Amino acid sequence: MISESVAAFPIEKIGKDFPILQQEVYGKPLVYFDNAASTQKPQVVIDAISDYYQQINSNVHRGVHHLSQKATDAFEASRETIRKHINARESHEVLFTKGTTDSINLVANSLSQGMIKAGDEIIVSHLEHHSNIVPWQMLCERTGAKLRVIPINERGELIQEDFEKLLNAKTKLVAVNHISNALGVINPIKEMIAKAHASDAWVLIDGAQSIPHMKVDVQDLDADFYAFSGHKIFGPTGIGVLYGKEALLEQMPPYQGGGEMIAEVTFEKTTYATLPHKFEAGTPHIEGGIVLGTAIDYVNSIGLEAIAAYEQELLHYGTELLKDRFPDLRILGDTEHKTSVISFLLGDIHPYDIGVILDKLGVAVRTGHHCTQPIMQHFGISGTIRASFAFYNTKAEIDQMAEALEKAHNMLA
Ligand code: ALA
Repeated sequence: MISESVAAFPIEKIGKDFPILQQEVYGKPLVYFDNAASTQKPQVVIDAISDYYQQINSNVHRGVHHLSQKATDAFEASRETIRKHINARESHEVLFTKGTTDSINLVANSLSQGMIKAGDEIIVSHLEHHSNIVPWQMLCERTGAKLRVIPINERGELIQEDFEKLLNAKTKLVAVNHISNALGVINPIKEMIAKAHASDAWVLIDGAQSIPHMKVDVQDLDADFYAFSGHKIFGPTGIGVLYGKEALLEQMPPYQGGGEMIAEVTFEKTTYATLPHKFEAGTPHIEGGIVLGTAIDYVNSIGLEAIAAYEQELLHYGTELLKDRFPDLRILGDTEHKTSVISFLLGDIHPYDIGVILDKLGVAVRTGHHCTQPIMQHFGISGTIRASFAFYNTKAEIDQMAEALEKAHNMLA
């Protein structure tokens, strides 16, 4: 039974909002199922980029002139839009970065300057993207801290009992994703944050995959840091956000030095600017920052609850269809709590070969290890085929993918 909210979802109108999706690829209607890698942009976002360069373009926080004031106001208004969207307490807890990777590197670099030391422990999970593993390994190399890893079970879920055992008085920070990019599994982060806080550890959440699919409330979660990317929530690339609790950000030393992040510079000593500028050295991605606010307004005009319900319908439809059609299907991360990602294999066919044939039939999926080699090592595979849906996708497109998969299967099996 389809719920009323899914039946009423304005998919026809939404489809028209995304001009890139109207094209054909190799003579077939484009089916874009690589949304976990990057999302497409609605016309309002494309227009906002052009408007910025036609009407606003100027540097922020620097000029007394009209355009600079306009750019600064728009940039700071967007920060406030983002603050409201994630329910941060203060807009200066919202830092503009280049994206999730940059946000995590900011925290790792800053904390490594004295706030995490030799003998301390950092916990990550087996489910992380490389961007939430490598910066912590680099920090461990620099500081002598130790990396511990929460294992996963056969459904790709974090084993909570093992997480509890890893927590101890030496644990300084827990860094986990909200949703796995490779499998779509949703982690119980609110409970995990509470457990980590009971051990006096800070928690960083990689929210790259959650932010386009669900309402995130950083105060309710009680996250110390929450990182996400603009391009995964229908905004531009090269812009992202690091939310951090004010008290922690105040304590942390800056990550990069330069213009914008200073209070006063002399050759003897430099003092730093207040938040958020202390962490925003140099001219920021002004257009990206402003337009990220436009993208978030667009998402909110549809509503994240309606989006989540519609995407769950796509997920269930696609999962059942593929299970019915392909007896040799293996879904990785086949669990109840997941977002609209189907990561799978067909028999022992190489994912890359399937991806290439699907592409020729108009269907864009990602194949490979999805920047999560440890997950692939856990399952003893080199990669998967990953179809990741956004709210502009349809059941008819899932049918087109199934047809294309059948052709690929017949050719390769
Ligand atoms: N992290 C992105 C993905 O999962 C690039 O594809």
